[in-house]
Amino acid sequence: MTPSALLPKILLSVLKGQPKALRDSHYPAWHLAPATGLLNDPNGFIHFQGRFHLFYQWNPLGCQHNHKCWGHWSSADLLHWQHEPIALMPEEEYDRSGCYSGSAVNNQGALTLCYTGNVKFAGGGRTAWQCLAVQNAEGGFDKLGPVIALPEGYTGHVRDPKVWQHENQWYMVLGAQDLALRGKVLLLRSDDLHHWQMLGELAGSGLGELGDAGYMWECPDLFTLGADTFLICCPQGVAREAHRFLNTHPSAYLSGAFTPEQATFEHGALHELDAGFEFYAPQTTLSADGRRLLVGWMGVPDGEEMRQPTVAQGWIHQMTCVRELSNRNGKLYQQPVRELQALRENERRFAGRVDDAPVMDARSLELWVESEGELTLNIGDTLILHWHKDHLRLDRRSLENGEWLSRYWDGEANVLQILCDSSSVEIFINEGAGVMSSRYFPSHPAQITFSGSGELRAQYWSLRPCM
Ligand code: FRU
Repeated sequence: MTPSALLPKILLSVLKGQPKALRDSHYPAWHLAPATGLLNDPNGFIHFQGRFHLFYQWNPLGCQHNHKCWGHWSSADLLHWQHEPIALMPEEEYDRSGCYSGSAVNNQGALTLCYTGNVKFAGGGRTAWQCLAVQNAEGGFDKLGPVIALPEGYTGHVRDPKVWQHENQWYMVLGAQDLALRGKVLLLRSDDLHHWQMLGELAGSGLGELGDAGYMWECPDLFTLGADTFLICCPQGVAREAHRFLNTHPSAYLSGAFTPEQATFEHGALHELDAGFEFYAPQTTLSADGRRLLVGWMGVPDGEEMRQPTVAQGWIHQMTCVRELSNRNGKLYQQPVRELQALRENERRFAGRVDDAPVMDARSLELWVESEGELTLNIGDTLILHWHKDHLRLDRRSLENGEWLSRYWDGEANVLQILCDSSSVEIFINEGAGVMSSRYFPSHPAQITFSGSGELRAQYWSLRPCM
């Protein structure tokens, strides 16, 4: 084993940076965030031999999108996570510009990672290798090298393998950009994870009914839930609409019928997966009891991210809470994973006029609200939720120029479940029919205050810090 040149730098960076991050009042009390540096996509989410493993895109050396490693946490209960040895560092020729996103599988008892080796050339071009790594006795990972080179007909933007097993075969979906600069999802098949056959394009811009649906599709994930198959993806370059796809890049899904043997996926229109300001690159896995769980990056690439105040404290971004998915009439519903209920303490209730509602401490809170009225929730005076009869509007000031920006959820909201942490708010609408996930950077103690007409019923708890 050649000694790593990066590892000593990473250790020093964590030793110096972690105490500073933990002292930051915006550091989460119960969400996953980097010890120091930058976190983006969740990777390799898997339940393996009795524990959940969650890997993540991590730059341990700073808050820029460089030096992408795979960090690694594990947990028995989805609440208390422990750090594991860093899984992948970009130190080979084939992954020298970053160990990019991917997934994990159980290959006959061996925890195996499938990831993208990203290579950028001095002249501006790039290539990508899909690579494997397998867990060793010390809990670290040994790289096995590339197993898929850049397929013909695509640019250097081919990445983010999500692999699963079906009837003794391995399948992989890959995000890609074709030579006409259209975003695609490719499907591949293998007997042994090492030799892969390209089956074709499963979905993408210009295919099926989609029309122009962007120039690059990142982070695909395909799974069957109930009677339908869902393809989650991040289609970059989708046209903005008045109330949808308003972030720099959206996260979306298609639902339909998948036939692996024929490599076909008959699907309908694109649905936005989360209507808040920060949500991207989610990944799902199955729990031991068969629940489809999802975790996302509570961030968006290429936006205002570098203006977030935590950068001055040496860390940036966090994960969403883990969510449980269900299929209701072909639509994906997301609800906070039930394990989170174990964090509840100090239950309180209120029923009455909106104006009489109590002020709530927003630092670490779960709040259920039911109402039919027109009302406003002021969250730390930084995030304002306008609850109208036929839609929700979430307002937040731009970190760049102070202008108010809005995100929307169209429909009649009857009940909201709101999860707050030190610098994040996740709003689950009508038991998961919609979600709005956003970061915010209030002064603490941040509070929620209500104003408006009509009545409301609320039930709320403080959530015990567990990180
Ligand atoms: C999505 C993404 C992936 C890539 C990774 C690099 O946020 O751009 O496509 O693999 O991040 O960190």
